[in-house]
Amino acid sequence: MEIKVLTLFPEMFKGPLDVSIIKNAQEKGLLTIEYINIRDFSNSKHKKVDDYPYGGGAGMVMTPQPIFDCYEKTLEKFKDSIKPRTIYCTPKGKVFNQQIALELSKEKHLVFICGHYEGVDQRVIDELVTDEISIGDYVLTGGELPVAVIIDAISRLIPGVLGQDESYQEESFYSGLLEYPHYTRPENFRGLTVPSVLLSGNHKEIANWRNQKAMEVTNKRRPDLIARMKNKKRDENNILL
Ligand code: ADE
Repeated sequence: MEIKVLTLFPEMFKGPLDVSIIKNAQEKGLLTIEYINIRDFSNSKHKKVDDYPYGGGAGMVMTPQPIFDCYEKTLEKFKDSIKPRTIYCTPKGKVFNQQIALELSKEKHLVFICGHYEGVDQRVIDELVTDEISIGDYVLTGGELPVAVIIDAISRLIPGVLGQDESYQEESFYSGLLEYPHYTRPENFRGLTVPSVLLSGNHKEIANWRNQKAMEVTNKRRPDLIARMKNKKRDENNILL
C-alpha cells in the first residue's frame, strides 16, 4: 500500500510510525508512507497557510491554495491514474472502527489530509476528500495524531504485516468480544500466580476459560458489544457489522 500524508507537521509522525511492526512493514516493502509538507506549496511570500475565518470567530482556518496544489502534485506521484480514497480526520467524521480499518486496508493508495488549527477550508473537503473520519468524541489540536492512529490500525491488517502467530483474527473486535487476559513467564511473580488452567495443557479447557473471561470483561465494560454479537450480522470476513 502506498500512503501519502499531507501535513503542516511531518515531524509529528517520525516517532510513532517508524518503529516495530509498521517500520518492518515499510522495510519489507508492504507499505510506503510519504509525508508531504503543505507549507512547501504556499504561493505566498511568507509561506502562509492559514487565515481568519470569513464571518468571524475564533482561530485560524487552513487556506485552500496550498492544500489543492499539494494534493494535485501528490496525485502525480501515484503510478496509476486513480482518484485515491482521501481521508480527512475531524471530530465531525464517521467514528473509526475495525470494520473501517479492514475496508481501508484493502486500498492500494490512500491520501490523508491533516487539518490543524480550526481545520481546513470547506472547499478542500467538498472537492478532495472522500471520507471524513473521527477517532472518538473528543477534540485534538489537529489531524496528525488521528492519522497516525488510523495508519497503524490499517497497516497491521495488510497481509504479511503481522506474523502468522500474531494474527489479528484472534483478537478483540474480530470475535466481537474484548480479549481474555494474557500471562507469560514466570509462573509465580512476587507471589502472584498464573491461573492453573493455562498450565494444564488441556486445550479445550483453556479455550473455555478464555471464552468465559472474554465474556466477563465484555459484559462488564462493553455490554453493547454483546448485544451486537447476538444479532450475529457479520461481513464476509466474519467481522461484526
Ligand atoms: N481532529 C481533532 N479531533 C479529532 C478527532 N477526535 N478525531 C479525528 N480528527 C480530529
